[in-house]
Amino acid sequence: MSEQGSSQGKTYPPDPELSKTANVRPEMKDQDLEEFWDSQAKERISWFEPYDTVLDWQLPYAKWFVGGKLNACYNAVDRHVENGQGDKVALHVVPDDGPDSADAHDITFAQLQEQVVRFANGLKKLGVGKGVPVGIYMQMIPEAVVAMLACARLGAPHTVVFGGFSGKAVAERCNDLECKVLITQDEALRGGKTAAQKTNADEGLDGAGSTTVEKIVVVKRTGGDIPMNDRDVYLDDLVDGESSDAESCPCEPMESEDLLFLLYTSGSTGKPKGVVHTTGGYLTGVATTHNLVFDVKDDSVYWCAADIGWITGHSYITYGPLVNGVTSVLYEGVPGYPNKEVWWKIVEKYNVSILYTSPTAIRSHMKWGEQHAQAHDLSSIKILGSVGEPINPEVWEWYRKHVGGDKAPIMDTWWQTETGHILITPLPGITTMKPGSAQQPFPGVRPEIRDDEGNVLGVEQTGNLVLTAPWPGMMRGLYKDDQRFRDTYWSKYSDAYFAGDGAKYDEDGDIMLMGRLDDVVNVSGHRLSTFEIESALVEHGDVAEAAVAARKDPDTGQAIVAFVSLTGDKTGTEELEQALREQVAQSIGKLARPATVIFANDLPKTRSGKIMRRLLKNLAEGEELGDTSTLVDPSVVDEMKKQIQG
Ligand code: WTA
Repeated sequence: MSEQGSSQGKTYPPDPELSKTANVRPEMKDQDLEEFWDSQAKERISWFEPYDTVLDWQLPYAKWFVGGKLNACYNAVDRHVENGQGDKVALHVVPDDGPDSADAHDITFAQLQEQVVRFANGLKKLGVGKGVPVGIYMQMIPEAVVAMLACARLGAPHTVVFGGFSGKAVAERCNDLECKVLITQDEALRGGKTAAQKTNADEGLDGAGSTTVEKIVVVKRTGGDIPMNDRDVYLDDLVDGESSDAESCPCEPMESEDLLFLLYTSGSTGKPKGVVHTTGGYLTGVATTHNLVFDVKDDSVYWCAADIGWITGHSYITYGPLVNGVTSVLYEGVPGYPNKEVWWKIVEKYNVSILYTSPTAIRSHMKWGEQHAQAHDLSSIKILGSVGEPINPEVWEWYRKHVGGDKAPIMDTWWQTETGHILITPLPGITTMKPGSAQQPFPGVRPEIRDDEGNVLGVEQTGNLVLTAPWPGMMRGLYKDDQRFRDTYWSKYSDAYFAGDGAKYDEDGDIMLMGRLDDVVNVSGHRLSTFEIESALVEHGDVAEAAVAARKDPDTGQAIVAFVSLTGDKTGTEELEQALREQVAQSIGKLARPATVIFANDLPKTRSGKIMRRLLKNLAEGEELGDTSTLVDPSVVDEMKKQIQG
């Protein structure tokens, strides 16, 4: 493939062969947006009853495919079995110890249906049904996908809590949504290590004082000896004797706008936000983007190496690929275990044709060296994807060269928990790719870049990324918090969705994403709020005040730096630093632990008593500090600087 120079660096024109066969057509970009989404909804989704209105848009609330009835599980599972695809593999299940493990196995669509039906019949006995919310706190095992689908089958909204979050996070989310049932597993197994899962959940729920959770369903993963109480039941016992026959548990017909799930995500202030996603529009959005961005064919083997605890897992592990009837890899493990080649073994063994992962994962592989990828036949790869954080151009180049055989196009997909599905991305066979940028709106998506006054910006002017028209998978609000929804996303501009990311157009009209504008940090593609981490730190008795900033990190994209002042005459020690990290792990989860803790007598404040966050950001990044004359006590900054440099 030819490479061309440009002022921004190398560009990669589309492969003409791919242009001929790609599912996405250039003219889709010019289609009227309602027409486009209407045709996709009809083509990709099976409706029990047809909709009468494509879009009912009353800013900031959209309703899509109004009047239609459907079921997400029917679309993801049953209809494929009915269409004679029952024997097709839905999931290649790869356990923690890799594809050579005796536990590696395949689940066909027919088997998936049986498992979902039995699970759903079990849940029914616990009172789960239409509108009864369920929490899911699991690792990347097939039962996690089955649990989501069983809920969807019954019309029960689910909220998945990332398996690496703390029990406290589980309790907060389950109580907020008023979940009656929590589904978890006995222990987590990742990278060869077991970790408490069910016990974490117990501690969180018990520690919360009261909880709406009445029953905990426990999936046996390790068979470890864990305490089981009156409210607990093993899945095996719950579904013992239950029918797996689809007719014993028909898919509940849901309104297009019925709640499918809630997913909590970090904002810049306050508690996590419960992002609302409904059924018809969401499924249309994920199925369409999954099909067109990854150029999915009947014989594709697709692997999204994300976690179901994040939106990427919801949209592009569970719902998108299954609705499209595609064979996927479901991988329990982490990169680098049991060896540094395991990813490439998976690609080789299953002939993976589409790989979708995060820049952080690629950076790990890059650090370990290309010899691991080179030791395997990766010629099955046709399309690569990247998600969750900006991808550095050199990482992009490495990914293409060593994983993509110097020819696979890379889909650098920009989107958010709130957007539900991919909105900005190159398209296979159409886009001339530029390493490090998501570039172009997906068909039916209308972005703009504006300054703070609302003026639309031109080339090379950095501003705020907004969306000026609704799209089917867009959030339908924040759970029980209309005001926060309006304030966060719809108050900056009266007529557009404010994404919270900075962006600019380059000279070719491509969109370059420039990072978050708020106090959300992105560690290894995990979205965290500085506010939540600060709250966790001050829970420790020795901490008077805490402020958190991020610095660039070569491995994790961003890393957390915590600035902490202590109570009384306490001094910062290594033990205390460890204790603070542990405090954050307990309160939020290990992934939120600060990489660096800086102790100080006081935090840098202005005379009006405000912490100078801009200055802390500069300090964390090791940048010039600029004017510090407005500080009450400039000497605190010198002390911090010494610690950072030391
Ligand atoms: C960032 C993940 C640059 C962005 C799907 C966004 C990206 C936030 C990209 C959402 C990308 C995601 N290039 N930045 N391709 N993809 N982001 O909700 O800042 O976990 O606002 O959704 O991740 O994170 P979230």
